[in-house]
Amino acid sequence: MKKNIIVYYSRKGSNKFLAEQAAATLQCEIVPLKPRLNLLFFLLLSSATKISLGNRSIKTDFKDFESIILCGPIWMGQFVSPLYDFVKKYKNDIQHLDFITCCGSTDTAKNERFGYATVFPKIREILGDKCGKCEAFPIELIVPEEKRNDDQAMMNARLSASNFTGEIKKRFDNFFEA
Ligand SMILES: Cc1cc2nc3c(=O)[nH]c(=O)nc-3n(C[C@H](O)[C@H](O)[C@H](O)COP(=O)(O)O)c2cc1C
Repeated sequence: MKKNIIVYYSRKGSNKFLAEQAAATLQCEIVPLKPRLNLLFFLLLSSATKISLGNRSIKTDFKDFESIILCGPIWMGQFVSPLYDFVKKYKNDIQHLDFITCCGSTDTAKNERFGYATVFPKIREILGDKCGKCEAFPIELIVPEEKRNDDQAMMNARLSASNFTGEIKKRFDNFFEA
């Protein structure tokens, strides 16, 4: 049995970057999720209603892996449909799954309606004991403190090699050391 695999969904690239960093750190395979209908409006609707649009088929046999690290964004306080559809489809094949997200919500607002901490229990609800750790890498960590109240600056921020330093890198290293 192989140890780890990274499975991710990303629209704007931050979670792709995060997933690639995770794959490089763990030196493991990485698989992108490709929704059948990759249109934001329908994905938001599907995330909210849990009416599945489905992902394109994946050749990987997830039963072969001890652990999956799932990575993707949070929208409207939801476990987004490409990730939800993946977990639902492969629930019986998954041995253990950790979830990481690069998201817009901040640490201080994590328990608010759209905060990342409201999403973690939704994954545990589906997977039970198979769900391990959940960790957020909020985009604010790459935005200079004086610009964190600037919605435009927060919206435009993307995680990349040039800003993957400081607090966010420390959080990443702590997560993967554990
Ligand atoms: C329509 C929309 C809704 C969003 N809602 C939330 C939210 O409820 N909570 C949150 O933490 N971030 C939210 N975000 C921010 C994304 O999670 C964040 O931009 C993420 O880094 C995007 O990942 P990507 O670059 O991999 O696509 C939202 C973004 C979009 C576009």
